[in-house]
Order: sequence, then C-alpha cells, then structure tokens
Amino acid sequence: MEPAKPEEPTTQAATEVKAEVEDEVTPFNIAAASDSGIDYDKLVDKFGCSRMTDELREKIERLTGRAPHRFIRRNIFFCHRDLDIILNRYEQNQLFYLYTGRGPSAEALHLGHTIPFIMTRYMQEAFDVPLVIQITDDEKFMYRPELSQEQVAKMAISNIKDIIAFGFDPEKTFIFLDTEYIKELYPNVTKVQKAVTLNQIKGVFGFNDSDPVGKYAYPPIQAVPSFCNSFPHIFGSRKNVPSLIPCAIDQDPYFRMTRDVAARLKYEKTGTFYSTFFPGLEGMKGKMSSSSLHNTILLTDSAADVKKKINKYAFSGGGATEQEQREKGANLDVDMPYQYLRFFLEDDAELAQIAEDYSTGKMLTGQIKQKLIEVLSTYLKEFQERRKAITDEDVKKFMEVRKINPVPKKFEEARKAKEAAEKLAKEAEAGAGAQ
Ligand code: TYM
Repeated sequence: MEPAKPEEPTTQAATEVKAEVEDEVTPFNIAAASDSGIDYDKLVDKFGCSRMTDELREKIERLTGRAPHRFIRRNIFFCHRDLDIILNRYEQNQLFYLYTGRGPSAEALHLGHTIPFIMTRYMQEAFDVPLVIQITDDEKFMYRPELSQEQVAKMAISNIKDIIAFGFDPEKTFIFLDTEYIKELYPNVTKVQKAVTLNQIKGVFGFNDSDPVGKYAYPPIQAVPSFCNSFPHIFGSRKNVPSLIPCAIDQDPYFRMTRDVAARLKYEKTGTFYSTFFPGLEGMKGKMSSSSLHNTILLTDSAADVKKKINKYAFSGGGATEQEQREKGANLDVDMPYQYLRFFLEDDAELAQIAEDYSTGKMLTGQIKQKLIEVLSTYLKEFQERRKAITDEDVKKFMEVRKINPVPKKFEEARKAKEAAEKLAKEAEAGAGAQ
C-alpha cells in the first residue's frame, strides 16, 4: 500500500511526541487533539501527500487563464497526490477528468459539503473537463444501521438536486447512483476486490470482525470511478485518462488504496486534491457534520436560522468583553466567524483588512459576526434560488447514461490549428516539388 508514512521515533524526544494524543482523521471520524484544530502540516507527512506550492498555483493560473479559486489562493486546498503530473499532461493537451462524490446520509447538505463541490465546479469550468459524481447509496445504507434503503434513496435524490444547484455543466457532468450504475462498475470492482486483501482493508479502514461484510466490500466501489473504463459512454475505448479527485482529506484512505491497486491493474493512478475541513460552529476540534445540528449550518437554513446559529453557537476567539477585545484583539486561529470568512468571503483585500482590524481589537466580535451573517445569508439565498429551480427532469438529464465529449474545446482548437498548419505545410511542399 502507498504510505501513510509511519513516523519513526528515533530519539527519546520523538518517542515522547508519539505518546501525545494524536489527531484522528479517518473517513468516519475527525477529532483534533488540540483546540486550535487539526495539525495539517503533520497530517500531510503522515499520509504521505504532497504540499500545495506557489509553483502549482501559478501553473493553474497559466493553464486556465484565470485567477485560482479563493480556496486555492488561501491554501484551503492544501495538499495533493500527483496534481503536478495531471497539470503537466494537461499542458500537453492530454485529457483528464474530475471525479468526486457524496454519501447520502441526510436530506440536506451542510456548508462543509459545499467545499469540494464549489471547488469541483470551479475546476470543471476552468479546465473544461468532464466530471463524474458518485452517489453512494450503498455505502450509507451499510454504514448507518438506522437507515433503510428507502430513506437513503429519498435522501440521494434530494442531495443530487443540491449538487446540481452548484452549477455543474449538464453537457459534461454524469451523476450516478451506485445501486443503479453498478453493472458498469462491477467488472472493475471485482478486479479491485481480487487485488486487495482483508488485512489491507482492515489496516486502512480499521474495521473489525463484527462489522458487516458489506463494509469490507465497499471501498473497491469508491475506487473504480477513478478508472476511465468505468465510463465507456464518456471515454469510449480510451484507456489512459487519469482522474483528479477534489475532496476533503478524510477520503484519502480510499484513494491510497485505489492508487496502489491501479498500479497493479496497469490503470492510470488517480490524482487527488485535498481540502482542510470546514469546522463546526463550536470550534476547530472537529469538522462540520450532519450528526450535530447546532454545530452545523444547512443549505436549507433561512437567514434567520443563520443569524441565530452564528450569534448563539459560533465559537469566538475575541475578548470576553468589549474592553478586553479592544485591548488584546482576537485570536483568529480559533475564531469561527473569521475562519468561515476565509472560506466564503471572496475579496482578499477585505479579508486581510478584517484580519488586521479584528486581531488588533479595532473590530469587535459582534461586527465580525454581523459580516459573516451577511456573507452566508447572501450565499445561501442565491443557492436556495438555484436549488428551487432544479426539477426531476434535471436529475434525469444529469443521470442519463449518454455520450459525453471528454475533450476540452481548447484541445479541439489546438488540434484543428495543428492540422491546418500541417495541411498548409504539405501543400507548400507539394508546390515547391512541382516547380
Ligand atoms: P460525504 O458525503 O461524507 O462527504 C461529501 C464530500 O464532502 C466532504 N466533506 C467536507 N469537506 C470539508 N469540510 C467538511 N466539514 C466536510 N464534510 C464532508 C467530503 O470529503 C466529501 O468530499 N464516501 C464519500 C462519498 C464518495 C466520495 C467519492 C467523496 C464516494 N466517492 C469521491 C469524495 C470523492 C462520503 O461519504 O462523502
């Protein structure tokens, strides 16, 4: 298996560090050891991912001809696997596609879920590439003992409408439900199931002998949408189109396993692009999650809900009193209103000004909360308007197994220009020969 790199305590000091409580980051639980949140720097090394760099940010800007998304500018998408390789290929007019997903475990998505979908939409538009979105109704039925298949099916449709409302290109996006599309996935699923042992799945996911066997069977199903031959209606007989997966770093265990298997099956290794977690209202210790509702802002929340939740629950890094805030300023690292603005306020200069004013005590806690309430209420109002307009017909359209052209317009134009130049050169050569 690809590393999770073990940390090797070679000195006594290192051993002592090892004895400290560590952050827990798995697909099933996120728990920071410290109040200031997950130590992402440490996590990159532990998982064996690569850090995002200025060079890659510049390359994205150059290749797409537009400023990188604020999530990239602010290092919210902070690490990756082989993003550099995918960008190098793209630079040479070689295809890639985007793959991401959602496990339907609640009727409405929350703000944390918006992070990968906002990013994926930006990347689809910027690179003009196809996108596949896996809806894992099988996973959530298996992992959530309390959910029936009927409940999951209903949540899935509602989640798909939410996802469409992020604005994906209907010409280039295929959304599929595992239980429906499984026939196409199954040949690859069996290949992966044959290549991975029970011990490896236990090691990567931490399952025990009392877990249902379906839990062990699921990870290969999340692996295979990263192989292009799972989508013949998009890629035809092409064999070597790699995928790039934008998501939060909690999903890395799946894709470590996937990349390891890909090499053995002689498939392209998937690239990944990982974000930090959008934290819950109560602080940096965990991620926003559907299981704790007063810690969570849902995409269905009204402006009044948002105001109430932020004023009541958002953990503040500001001074306990107005006087203390004016004297000492706020600790931005643990302040939820500031942290949320990092994710949702577009204007870099305005964010920097808020950071300056709030950390030095010029801005008060009530004021930054008010700013966040405005920003989020506007975002949610616009989202809800788009969501209201999504119909069952739209769902059908995105989920239809149909031909999708995987080639970016830019590549088509480059190919045509090259052909025209070659034709001209040939004609000139023929003309010269005839003289
Ligand atoms: P799920 O439904 O738990 O989460 C959907 C996506 O949202 C991300 N996410 C978050 N990102 C930032 N901050 C948060 N607080 C937060 N909470 C969730 C997740 O990383 C994920 O990208 N097993 C998957 C479904 C899946 C999938 C995939 C996800 C299938 N194939 C490919 C990503 C890529 C799941 O249950 O996700």
